[in-house]
Amino acid sequence: MTLAAALSGLEITWVNGVAGQDVPDKVLPGDPESRQGGLTVGSKGCWRAHMDVLQRIVRENITSALILEDDADWDVRLKAQMQVFAQAARAFTQPLQGQPLSEQYRQGPQPELPFAKLPHRNLRPSLSAYGDDWDLLWLGHCGTDFPAAQAPSKPPPLRVTIENDMTVPSHQHLKPHPFALRDDLAEKYPPHTRVVHASSGTTCTQAYAVSRKGARKLLWQFGVETMTAGWDLMLRDWCDRLYEHPAGSNPNPAEATSRRRAPVCVTVQPPLFTHHYGKGAASDITAAGGGFVNRDKEMTPYVRLSVRLNMGRLVNGEPPVDQWEDG
Ligand SMILES: *[C@@H]1O[C@H](CO)[C@@H](O)[C@H](O)[C@H]1NC(C)=O
Repeated sequence: MTLAAALSGLEITWVNGVAGQDVPDKVLPGDPESRQGGLTVGSKGCWRAHMDVLQRIVRENITSALILEDDADWDVRLKAQMQVFAQAARAFTQPLQGQPLSEQYRQGPQPELPFAKLPHRNLRPSLSAYGDDWDLLWLGHCGTDFPAAQAPSKPPPLRVTIENDMTVPSHQHLKPHPFALRDDLAEKYPPHTRVVHASSGTTCTQAYAVSRKGARKLLWQFGVETMTAGWDLMLRDWCDRLYEHPAGSNPNPAEATSRRRAPVCVTVQPPLFTHHYGKGAASDITAAGGGFVNRDKEMTPYVRLSVRLNMGRLVNGEPPVDQWEDG
């Protein structure tokens, strides 16, 4: 990680992982009855480590932070990709004059908005290049869905399409793993298209950014209130607005009847960060497709000029090699 970061011009700060054995059940927040099927030892350690990161962001009052798991990989062109993503993300996070952000986020001016036609933002962001009003940017995942319309009569939620992005592999390389059934992105868009949209059904937490307010909300929800499942599954549900309604046990009737503002979570397909599969090494992912061992080929799904696969070349001043050449 240190070398990969140095070779791509990133400065990273480490936060220690936590072994699940060191997390006694009595410190977990929420009702033990709510933990269907119990929790694995690994998911307790993972939860605590992510809470430690969020706690530090809140304590140090950091404006925004990108949280990376230590098996993440990315393209050597990450900074240029992030500049494009930032402009696309603002369609979801930066209010247009005279229009409430929630409307824009849920419906958009039109469902498909090509990058070249992004409306001129009336209000420039002041806090972050990614816009001022967001909670979470889910940049590294192992799958996400295009969000569905809220009702059949409503237009589908906004998608910003980045066309001819040559950092996106061609269609035949978009399957995340050999057991994956289909890939919506490959079926619905021309090759080399990246799509930015609201998070829906997103899983795995290789990389996500939180804003100050996002970190505070998450630390409250999952450090104080609830702990029911693996961290990425809780985060998925949080972004999918399943925590939007205050709990029925809330004693304050005024608060109980008001709808809490939905979190603003923006994601991207294909993701900008993914798991790196080392030679012969099994993934730690416990979900379907996880644990698959590729003994023949080190690889990182979706990432063409992978930093991890090119470290040997980069330290020697050689140009990086494309692992997903167009066929
Ligand atoms: C956190 O930072 C914000 C923005 O700079 C500031 O307004 C706020 O007072 C800070 N909070 C604390 C607790 O330092």
